[in-house]
Amino acid sequence: MSILVTGGAGYIGSHTCVELLNAGYEVVVVDNLVNSSKEALNRVMAITSKSLKFYEADILDKDKLSKIFQNEAIDAVIHFAGLKAVGESVEKPFEYYWNNVTGTLTLCDVMQSFGVKNMVFSSSATVYGAPKSVPIKEDFPLSVTNPYGRTKLMLEDILRDLYVADPTLNTILLRYFNPIGAHKSGMISENPKGIPGNLLPYITQVAIGKLDYLRVFGDDYETPDGSGVRDYIHVVDLAKGHVKAIEKLTQNEGILTYNLGTGIGYSVLDVIKTFSKVSGIDIPYKISKRRAGDIAECYADATLAKKELNWEAKYGLVKMCEDSWRWQKNNPDGYEV
Ligand code: NAD
Ligand code: WQD
Repeated sequence: MSILVTGGAGYIGSHTCVELLNAGYEVVVVDNLVNSSKEALNRVMAITSKSLKFYEADILDKDKLSKIFQNEAIDAVIHFAGLKAVGESVEKPFEYYWNNVTGTLTLCDVMQSFGVKNMVFSSSATVYGAPKSVPIKEDFPLSVTNPYGRTKLMLEDILRDLYVADPTLNTILLRYFNPIGAHKSGMISENPKGIPGNLLPYITQVAIGKLDYLRVFGDDYETPDGSGVRDYIHVVDLAKGHVKAIEKLTQNEGILTYNLGTGIGYSVLDVIKTFSKVSGIDIPYKISKRRAGDIAECYADATLAKKELNWEAKYGLVKMCEDSWRWQKNNPDGYEV
């Protein structure tokens, strides 16, 4: 079975390629490398001792995308390609709507032309907005507060509408919580350009001495220690969830939605403490004011994925911190070797 992985050179995409190859799938990647490096794919092949096909192309380029579908007998698509920085999406909403929404429409158009009906789509816990309670279940009300989140919610709506019009489509919407960690080899991970916006890459860059200290965005939330609580999930667990989703797609059940999280919430201070312990490095931090748009608590009820996908997260926070740190130590400048 041949899987087209859009955005396969990126953080979650590269780890998913490893799991797909290990599970015996043929993998074809399309990525324009706007936020990634081809080196990630070389390393995926080194880790697995298997090869994949790579097309450097923009999913908005319908001709190039069509050629890929012409050349390869694609059975299913895992669609990661998209821009993902919340703050940047507020500055550049047009780019986000154009890339994420038009890109996905172009992909759906080409898939339809070639009769490819199976898609796993990368959605996000961001579609729950500020949840009324935690843990969050898939049927909670949806709302978003920034252009990035809006592209995800719009795309979920679009994919639901396409299914209503064509019930032979098989679509799985995966709502990821907070992916962190890296492959145990320390060879692939997240490779943020510039100063990281997310917590873990920021911490690892403080640990390696690239940044002086971490700002903790708020200690006055209604959480056990006052700092924000999130459901951090190891990226390898997340990647394995995609293999389960691909297996599920073949059962032709229409459109399905799953949370991919651990079901456990950790605070910013918990993460700092755990990271310091596993790395042996003290992480200097200062409490600063809340970051605009942040919520107090967000963690998943992941029981549906366990029941229906036979998937659950295996790795805990210690392993997530260990693996993030190994990547950062081995690759102080990311893929730029
Ligand atoms: P990433 O930036 O590492 O990977 C995205 C990949 O898509 C990159 O390799 C980028 O070059 C590629 N890409 C972007 N636009 C493209 C286009 N028009 N054509 C071809 N390639 C394009 O991000 P990631 O963390 O691996 O996220 C993957 C997906 O998961 C994204 O859709 C993201 O929104 C979603 N997601 C991520 C998180 C997270 O915290 N990392 C959480 C929830 C959802
Ligand atoms: C985690 C916690 C911060 C940085 C974002 C997107 C979401 C999804 C995942 C794509 C929060 C705190 C952070 C720092 C801090 N992505 N923090 N100092 O905001 O939960 O989710 O990434 O879909 O859509 O919004 O992740 O890693 O930025 O923050 O104190 O320098 O760490 O306030 O409590 P977030 P994050």
